[in-house]
Order: sequence, then C-alpha cells, then structure tokens
Amino acid sequence: MDRIAVYPGSFDPMTNGHTDIVERCKALFDKVHLGILQNPQKAPLFTAEERLEMIQEIYADDSAVQVHAFDGLLVDFAEQLGARAIIRGLRAPTDLEYELQMALMNRRLRDRIETLFMVPREEFTFVSSSLIKEVCQFGGSVEGLVPSQVELRLVEKFR
Ligand code: PNS
Repeated sequence: MDRIAVYPGSFDPMTNGHTDIVERCKALFDKVHLGILQNPQKAPLFTAEERLEMIQEIYADDSAVQVHAFDGLLVDFAEQLGARAIIRGLRAPTDLEYELQMALMNRRLRDRIETLFMVPREEFTFVSSSLIKEVCQFGGSVEGLVPSQVELRLVEKFR
C-alpha cells in the first residue's frame, strides 16, 4: 500500500523552506499531495489558481508530488486522498503553539490521521511567505529564498 502524505498550507507564495520540506517528505512517503488552502476569508497576494499554477510548474517533472487547491476541512481533504499523515513545517518554537492546537483539533476530528512536524534546513528557518512578500514589495531581492518560478511571479506582481 502506498504511503501517502498531505502537506497543506496557504503557500502565498511557496518558499524554499516549503520545497525543502517537500523533499524531506519524499524520502518518507510514496506520494506527497500539496494542498493549497482556498480561503474566501483571507486576502492572499496570489489567487488560489495562481498558486496552483506556480506550484504545478515547480513539480511538473515530479510524479511523487501532486498539487491541489482545497477548501473545507483539512482532515476531509486528507481522507479523500487516502493520506495517513498531515505534514507541517516547524521553523521555530513560536510556531508550536498554533501548530499543536491544529494538530489536536485535527486528531479530534479524525483520529487515524497523524500530524507530523518536520524541520526545514536551518538556512531557511527565517524565511516566511509574509517576509518574502514584504521584501519584494519594497524592491528587495529574494533570490535563493524562493523557487525561480515564484521569484518571477513576484517581480511581475509588484512591477
Ligand atoms: O500555511 P498556513 O496558512 O499556516 O496553513 C494553514 C492550514 C491550511 C493548514 C489551515 O488553515 C487549515 O487546515 N485550513 C483548513 C480548514 C480546517 O481544516 N480547519 C481546522 C484546522 S484545525
């Protein structure tokens, strides 16, 4: 039986911290499904379609990774894909409070799906999607911190 994981997030936009986590997941799972949150209450920089397109471009040649946009409950999305694990990246202890709440709520909703926390390579622990957007907005370079496809879209967005 395939070992399947779901890696959910806003990915607005995807960073090299995220891609590092995906690579680590691939060593543990046969299939990694990236789930982009389509949240009508949030005002993301990139629409769900734009994020989907960008991330699909990044993983175009990688059959172990599939990209989806989802709304509704994460545990329902994970269950539909046959996933046993939800992957979340942890960059710092401050991430833990929110992550623990979500993990416990998700466990309450679907006991058989485990949340696994993974730590990105330390050179990406300061990288967040919000900081990336802020730096780009004011003309700073984010080279080496996001995939090239994302860098291009950011430049276009803020031009
Ligand atoms: O990258 P983010 O914004 O920190 O990701 C948050 C995400 C997508 C994992 C979370 O908002 C989520 O799971 N949303 C789906 C709705 C849901 O299941 N909510 C209950 C979570 S306990």
